[in-house]
Amino acid sequence: MNPCVTRQELERFRSAIVARVGLHFDESKLSFLEEVLRRRVSRLDRSSAAYLAELEDDAPRAELTALAEELTVGETYFFRHNDQFRALAEFALPDRMRARATARTLNLMSAGCASGEEAYSIAIVARETVTDPSWNVVVQAVDLNRSVLQKAEKARYSAWALRETPPPIKEKWFRRDGRELALDEQLRRTVHFKQANLASDDSALWQPGVYDVVFCRNVLMYFAPDQMRATIARIAASLAPGGYLFLGHAETLRGVSDDFDLHHAHDAFYYRRKDEPRPAKSLRPYVKVESAVAPALLPGLATTAWMDAIRHASERITRLVPAHGKSTSPPQRAATWQLATALDLLRAERFDEALAYICNGPPQSRDDPDVLLVKALLLVQAGQSIAAEEACQQLLLIDGLNAGAHYVLALCRECAGEPERAMEHDRLAAHLDPAFAMPRLHSGLLARQAGDHKAARSDLAQALVLLQREDVSRVLLFGGGFSRDALVALCQSAVSKCGDRL
Ligand SMILES: C[S@@+](CC[C@H](N)C(=O)[O-])C[C@H]1O[C@@H](n2cnc3c(N)ncnc32)[C@H](O)[C@@H]1O
Repeated sequence: MNPCVTRQELERFRSAIVARVGLHFDESKLSFLEEVLRRRVSRLDRSSAAYLAELEDDAPRAELTALAEELTVGETYFFRHNDQFRALAEFALPDRMRARATARTLNLMSAGCASGEEAYSIAIVARETVTDPSWNVVVQAVDLNRSVLQKAEKARYSAWALRETPPPIKEKWFRRDGRELALDEQLRRTVHFKQANLASDDSALWQPGVYDVVFCRNVLMYFAPDQMRATIARIAASLAPGGYLFLGHAETLRGVSDDFDLHHAHDAFYYRRKDEPRPAKSLRPYVKVESAVAPALLPGLATTAWMDAIRHASERITRLVPAHGKSTSPPQRAATWQLATALDLLRAERFDEALAYICNGPPQSRDDPDVLLVKALLLVQAGQSIAAEEACQQLLLIDGLNAGAHYVLALCRECAGEPERAMEHDRLAAHLDPAFAMPRLHSGLLARQAGDHKAARSDLAQALVLLQREDVSRVLLFGGGFSRDALVALCQSAVSKCGDRL
């Protein structure tokens, strides 16, 4: 039987999958979705209409399980992105042990654990770090796909699954059994697997403040933006204040959540929950969620994002200014104050006037993140790097995941003669906004100055690609007075001085 599927039914199927499982499939995956829909309808011997109605209404768990097996990707291995496990051992676990010194229990989670490699890696690191036997360490591991969980429960793996596992760890925690490697039995028992859907509320799983560390890697990049936000909000609420969240390499929380601070150690980025999660409405409105979700899948991203940001900021501040001001600024001037005017002055290279205009803005503008960022940039261009740094710190208190603030801090640290700290901020900026060219260019130039030509070439190569599609207004703002062409030429010249061509 080969049931016929209409375009409308396919769209309904796509929407129902987002709603029920969180997963988003773009146009290029429609024929795959069509195949899945045909298979499910045929297997259940239903009409497409009846099947979709049930899926939309209240899909039975068995059907969600079957769909998960059809739709999810289970690629994983032990110690994937080992730098994150180093950060877990060196920073997150010791910090959480201090916080739980009285209870002496740590609750860790692998969300979207697939066949268990991530959860067992967490358990191994915890056992190696928390050596005092009076501590109780539990790893909760969840996935929607039942067949991968069955494999996880067995805890037997091929050598390929351990390809990134340090040899001493392999020797200590695994025993060869025929062609397989079997995990230490006691360790296996510290991990509890459960079938659960991250896209739905599960009050037993997501109790407030229980987890110390959550790994949720390479799962949310497949989610629709709203489902990603909702899942992150659940994780934030169920992490203890100060608890840690590890996402996949290409995933960021920029534009998704305000509840976390970003940290960077070795080559790993990770997040720490702020003391009190803020309501979702405090999210920066201009940030493109898509860039945070799957930057690599979005060529041509962010062409007007920054200009929209400035327009929104101007409108927002104008709205905040009282019509008959009680403010200290003259009401007339305050009511017509526009951040866009400062940008016009900037475009005309009247930098001092732009800075004076910003500094004389209405009081309501002074805590606005976009105003603070423009101010910080103008200050650093004017050589006032200490004041610029203060503006950035003020901005980061409001929006801890602001990529622009980290970029300006990189410039400030360079002015202070601290190139390594500068590169650290460049890395944070580039991680938060993978489409942002300037931090790549800046860190490439700094690496070249430091004689690290390999790192310089890598950063400059990425900067060259990103510069071609960088938002025009971001070039204006962050380009230090250079045009896009001039920045590209600067980049190419720096590459040639590294002794190689791209
Ligand atoms: C690519 S694997 C990631 C495995 C591991 N976290 C890692 O990074 O190595 C993604 C896993 O997420 C699971 N997943 C996808 N959607 C899910 C959902 N709505 N609820 C629970 N798990 C889900 C898939 O079944 C799959 O096993």
